[in-house]
Amino acid sequence: MANNDMNDKRVVIVGGGSGMGFALAELLVAEGARVHLAGRSERKLAAARQRLGASVTASRTDIADEDDVQRLFADPVDHVVVTAADANGSYSPIESFPLKAAWTVLGTKVIGPWLVAKHAAAVMATGSITFTSGIAAYRPSPGSSVLATANGALEALARTLAVELAPIRVNVVSPGWVDTPIWDDLAGPAKNERLAAMAAKLPAGRVGRPADIAQAFRALLGNEFITGTTLHVEGGHRLV
Ligand SMILES: NC(=O)c1ccc[n+]([C@@H]2O[C@H](COP(=O)([O-])OP(=O)(O)OC[C@H]3O[C@@H](n4cnc5c(N)ncnc54)[C@H](OP(=O)(O)O)[C@@H]3O)[C@@H](O)[C@H]2O)c1
Repeated sequence: MANNDMNDKRVVIVGGGSGMGFALAELLVAEGARVHLAGRSERKLAAARQRLGASVTASRTDIADEDDVQRLFADPVDHVVVTAADANGSYSPIESFPLKAAWTVLGTKVIGPWLVAKHAAAVMATGSITFTSGIAAYRPSPGSSVLATANGALEALARTLAVELAPIRVNVVSPGWVDTPIWDDLAGPAKNERLAAMAAKLPAGRVGRPADIAQAFRALLGNEFITGTTLHVEGGHRLV
């Protein structure tokens, strides 16, 4: 069996109850992988499992809680993907940015992935760990100071871990704007209008779909010669 083959591979997706993590789960289940979803909302995880089928397992996990993360990696795993992010309160002018909200963003997007690597590495021999950063680090906009910092830090973390944890490969996918439930928190009723305005600006002529990002994760999981890399999947957003 080629290592690129996902059949029977054990894959943990932290944040896989929705959005791009869920789309990756769909893709991997179709290839015969043994997928485990982790997130905070049991309701969201149960709904995801219902859609994906009984082969998928799930557990309630707060990525910022070390006990939760340690419990998640009790058994060996082949690949780990982190898409978790608590977006509530992640955009604010710096003058009024509450410190607590800043720690929440950093806790889910930087320290959480660090905890995942810490405990996943103990049960992995080879395989890969993939984090999710984002366009905010590359196309700065007012109000995104903490998110941009988190995304940039995550990429530095991945490069370091690619060396420290080798032969486990560690990479990052950096999405542009993708139509997922996170936009319900970020934009509320203005979601469709904001996504349509961005679509009109992008060379790709549309915003991302969760499946676009899932395919990028899948490529990183399967390609044994990619480590310490950030893969941008953003429809040309960095160019405009
Ligand atoms: N969509 C975009 O336009 C976009 C652009 C750039 C970057 N990104 C990044 O892409 C990643 C995936 O986001 P998405 O768009 O797919 O949004 P999403 O559907 O909201 O997915 C995020 C997932 O993270 C989980 N989560 C949040 N806080 C958590 C915590 N403390 N512990 C464990 N899980 C937690 C959520 O589930 P629970 O609430 O149940 O925990 C949710 O299922 C995020 O890192 C986001 O920052 C997204």
